[in-house]
Amino acid sequence: MSQVPNINKENLPLHIAIIMDGNGRWAKEKGKLRIFGHQNGVKAVRDTVESAAEIGIKHLTLYAFSTENWNRPKFEVNALMELLVSTINKETKTLMENNIRLNAIGDLEQLPSSCLRELKEAIDKTKDNTRMTLHLALSYSSKWEITQAVKKIAEEVKEGKLDLATINDSTLDQYLTTAGIPDPELLIRTSGEHRISNFLLWQIAYSEFYFTDKLWPDFRKEDLYDAIIDYQSRERRFGKTSEQVKA
Ligand code: IPE
Ligand code: IPE
Ligand code: MG
Repeated sequence: MSQVPNINKENLPLHIAIIMDGNGRWAKEKGKLRIFGHQNGVKAVRDTVESAAEIGIKHLTLYAFSTENWNRPKFEVNALMELLVSTINKETKTLMENNIRLNAIGDLEQLPSSCLRELKEAIDKTKDNTRMTLHLALSYSSKWEITQAVKKIAEEVKEGKLDLATINDSTLDQYLTTAGIPDPELLIRTSGEHRISNFLLWQIAYSEFYFTDKLWPDFRKEDLYDAIIDYQSRERRFGKTSEQVKA
């Protein structure tokens, strides 16, 4: 049964980030190749994006491909890149219909040119959409992102454009690929793994974590609702005492 009515619209996370994991194991369970799992993961993406927008989530970040994933067998990497191109191509229409803006974070220059072209086209086409922004983390790793930010900051200090004394944590925020995007209040990881795998290390400083054993291709609306309902039962203290928060 749908749990939407149990979601408190007054306490929605503004930003949900998801580590979509378990495609390979899902396929293996069915005696299929890993890529079959990735193909079926697209359905879960569609369902999640649609329901997040319906609920009223403003930012959804999906970890689709990590920097470390480049080290997978060439066959799998190529198949994933092809799947990415065809999915973006097919889904742009749905994004337009649902008023969803597409954005990408990561070391995008590493993507094959066809992929980058398709991605930039979709980003451009959807740029005026306002209901929700879907951020795809592609060729993304948090250590890469933080290193880039630190390099840029150092360069600007050296050139006299930035005063060392004024640097604080919001300065760093502005140099990350997530500049301008609020930090995720809720981070979900599927497939029963309890790790971060180089995802948004800086931005999840105060995120609530939600882990589910569901493998990504099986993830559906109801699983997203469950995660949000669980999030809404948490007390976010930000270092204060429970009494202070309640006062
Ligand atoms: C997540 O599923 C998708 C990507 C990382 C691209 P996996 O491919 O990691 O699947 P498992 O974890 O091996 O089952
Ligand atoms: C994390 O999944 C990256 C994505 C979901 C894109 P992995 O399957 O690559 O993570 P590890 O290597 O098991 O930690
Ligand atoms: Mg995995």
